[in-house]
Amino acid sequence: MSDLRSFLDLVRAQRPSDFIEIKREVDRRFETAAILSKLEMQQRSPILLFGSVRGAALPLVTNVCGSMGRIAFALSCPIKDVSARYAVAAAAPIQPKVTRDAPVQEIRATGRDIDLGRLPALVYHEYDADKPYITAAVAVARDPDSGRTNLSVHRLMVRDSTSAAVFIERGKHLDGILQAFRRAGRIMPIAFFIGSHPAWLLGAVYSGPLEEYGVIGGLLREPLSIVECVTQTGLFVPARAEVVLEGVIDPDQLVEEGPFGEWSGYSTGIVRSPLFQVSAMTMRRDAIFQDVVSGHMEHLTVELPAIEHRTLARARAAAPSVAAFAVIAPFTSVVALEKTAEDEPKRVMDALLSTDIQAKHLIVVDADVDIRDPRRVFRAIGLNTQPVRDVHIYPDESGTLLDPSCTSPTARTSKMGIDATRRLAPTRQIKPNQVPSDVLASVDISDVLKRRP
Ligand SMILES: Cc1cc2nc3c(=O)[nH]c(=O)nc-3n(C[C@H](O)[C@H](O)[C@H](O)COP(=O)(O)O)c2cc1C
Repeated sequence: MSDLRSFLDLVRAQRPSDFIEIKREVDRRFETAAILSKLEMQQRSPILLFGSVRGAALPLVTNVCGSMGRIAFALSCPIKDVSARYAVAAAAPIQPKVTRDAPVQEIRATGRDIDLGRLPALVYHEYDADKPYITAAVAVARDPDSGRTNLSVHRLMVRDSTSAAVFIERGKHLDGILQAFRRAGRIMPIAFFIGSHPAWLLGAVYSGPLEEYGVIGGLLREPLSIVECVTQTGLFVPARAEVVLEGVIDPDQLVEEGPFGEWSGYSTGIVRSPLFQVSAMTMRRDAIFQDVVSGHMEHLTVELPAIEHRTLARARAAAPSVAAFAVIAPFTSVVALEKTAEDEPKRVMDALLSTDIQAKHLIVVDADVDIRDPRRVFRAIGLNTQPVRDVHIYPDESGTLLDPSCTSPTARTSKMGIDATRRLAPTRQIKPNQVPSDVLASVDISDVLKRRP
């Protein structure tokens, strides 16, 4: 059965250069982020297992999904097939099965025994809040109207031994569920599980009509074992997670949270966020605490397959000839399409710019452009775009406060679409510089290169 520790064992055995164990004690302020930063400067992004974090009771593992290669390894497919694997999982979800055999409930702390200080929550960046953060916790909540279970990853700022502030972006499903509880005048039961196999995290950030536990099953190709919470009945968490925090959120109680360095590479100030009151902390007897070093590679790689999956589906609904999609910089995405009509790029922009925060700037190119190479993308803009005709401004769309350029308190933002595709019927004779291919094939340059006496 797949869980975090089985994955760690597999990487240790089969990809040893992807795994570094640090036995000496590390500081919970900045040190783990500094170690990963230095490794990333050397183009390395291994899993880091810290045996001892000062002041904490549990070992810490970070950067588990820190490279697409490792994500592909976890899904047993080549890197190029990760998105396709994701699409297959979403097309054939496998429902979870409920069990009573739950290692994550071996230790159960309730009431005065709860102490979040035992967890190696961390501080990462110079300008972050002084309070430590939990960054790899998956929230489990149930919509009171539909009864559907939603999973999503949310940063938790630990305030004291039994409470934490939860950052929930406007428009996320958890925000909708919280608003439904507010309308009903009820507090919201919630659980967070920590310690996930990569497939659990990839599935948790799925955004669409399915329940995420089914997507996780599809990714694992087996049902995920889940267990009912100890204090929040009706909520279920993976039985083989490492740690679970159960509790409630009062929709009307907000507290100051942040600043916190985000995936964009910046923190954007203090916000008012809901307060999570912990009613139980359960864990394995030898639990490993999982972390994502915020704002580094892993923060992006975990979300990429889900983003690519949902964006391709939306883009293809607007123009079936869409071939590929990529996020090439924060808030900047590229779509490649086999253009069959001049209005197709604009149709794709209309579909994506109104729905996806990663598409604040969307560039549409022809399918023969390598969209992962920014130079090729800029070349296409340079050669094919007439700004007055091909640049489309969308003045008022929903964005995110995590965008440093956003000044609207309600996260409204303007957006831009750039059509960088070639005209289907150019009005001038436009031809590439190309020697005839038969001549190219027949030329032998060995005699040209031969050294003369
Ligand atoms: C490491 C990590 C941290 C995240 N932190 C937050 C967060 O603090 N708040 C938030 O709203 N979304 C956060 N996200 C993004 C959401 O988990 C993601 O968009 C998810 O799909 C939302 O779920 P939903 O589609 O059910 O609304 C994070 C994602 C990752 C991978």
